Amino acid sequence: MHSPLIAALPKAELHVHIEGTFEPELMFEIAQRNQISLPYDSVEALRQAYNFQNLQSFLDLYYAGAQVLIHEQDFYDLAWAYFEKCHADHVVHTEIFFDPQTHTDRGVAFATVLHGLKRACQDAKAHFGISSHLIMCFLRHLSEQDAFNTLAQAAAFKDDIIAVGLDSSEVGHPPEKFARVFAAAAEQGYLCVAHAGEEGPATYIWQALELLKVHRIDHGVRCDEDAELMRYLAEKNMPLTVCPLSNLKLCVVDDMRDHNIKKLLHEGLCVTVNSDDPSYFGGYMNDNYQAIHDALALSDDELKQLACNAFQASFLAETEKQAWCEQIKAL
Ligand code: HPA
Ligand code: ZN
Repeated sequence: MHSPLIAALPKAELHVHIEGTFEPELMFEIAQRNQISLPYDSVEALRQAYNFQNLQSFLDLYYAGAQVLIHEQDFYDLAWAYFEKCHADHVVHTEIFFDPQTHTDRGVAFATVLHGLKRACQDAKAHFGISSHLIMCFLRHLSEQDAFNTLAQAAAFKDDIIAVGLDSSEVGHPPEKFARVFAAAAEQGYLCVAHAGEEGPATYIWQALELLKVHRIDHGVRCDEDAELMRYLAEKNMPLTVCPLSNLKLCVVDDMRDHNIKKLLHEGLCVTVNSDDPSYFGGYMNDNYQAIHDALALSDDELKQLACNAFQASFLAETEKQAWCEQIKAL
């Protein structure tokens, strides 16, 4: 099902929402043990609902599903299931988003979320040799003050969170809304990333760069509407964490053959391949690689470049980046 090279490539994932890895089977299991009822009769009925018109229609289901997560063990089980997928797909390093506000707004303690995720990260290192970082995302449909409150809550866990990010409903919630929060986060030592240019315009990418001072742009595929921005991204070697199956499922592209990832790669941008919300979008890392390989006829060298880009764009140490890219070259 996956080409031998895709299966063999060591991969880094830089754009995955842990709440978006929640498979319906596990969701029903956790709902049952927490005695929470889901508005679907069965796993099949829930999967049937995964038919999205846009980002918001997905987010509505994604937030509803996350409501069954209550205990530390729930967050552990969620993350552990994702690490098993990483292991199967030869993902050797992953930088995982989580949405604290989705949980703290329901009365789940920040510590409950963090401890469950962190324990899974530690076990994944011990069992599978997979390294990982956690990235805390602010929900952009909520207020600046809510984001500041979340940043304050995170202070006790600063050493376990490498970066802050920005996700949720993009259009109408431009990066500038969070400029002061990101400045405070950077001041406290967090690295910064942000979703921009998924559904939102190229101006949102400029804002993420100039006002949020991000180290990577998440999605960013609408950069090709602005030639100056394209040149800037190439010149600065600014990574884009592209999510092909997500773009297809959320109708950012109508057909995978129209996806611009190959064009962006050839324009010299540091594009990477990621799964975003793999339980909802129909595939994990290897499925994403395979989908663009098939639709865009990617060569072995292009696949290797994409895989190497992800290590280069990661928050790993330089020596580790080099070592992984050399392994990739030797394949
Ligand atoms: N975009 C914005 N917010 C999100 C996404 C996404 O693709 N996935 C989970 N939250
Ligand atoms: Zn995302």
